Amino acid sequence: MSTWIEACRADDIEEEDVIRFDHEDRTFAIYRSPDDEYFATDGLCTHEQVHLADGLVMDEIIECPKHNGRFDYRTGEAKGVPACVNLKTYPTRQENGFILIDIG
Ligand code: FES
Repeated sequence: MSTWIEACRADDIEEEDVIRFDHEDRTFAIYRSPDDEYFATDGLCTHEQVHLADGLVMDEIIECPKHNGRFDYRTGEAKGVPACVNLKTYPTRQENGFILIDIG
């Protein structure tokens, strides 16, 4: 099942940056890559419950602000300890200047 929801305006996110998006009782992180593509993952680090949007984006990597665990935000793959459980990712699309994500 697809459930597309509007997360933000495309220009709300700088290139190579991330913002937090909350929807009902869920939280997400929306990324804009250096080559101007958009991605979405669960908003909380899989190591502890910390908002990844407070972390640092470097190329395709999000670095958690708490213990510097790293994930590839395109695939959700955990790339650096202590993060070892992958993040869930969500499809995105751009429409009329807005970023939509499919939260399933
Ligand atoms: S809370 Fe993210 S690496 Fe520990």
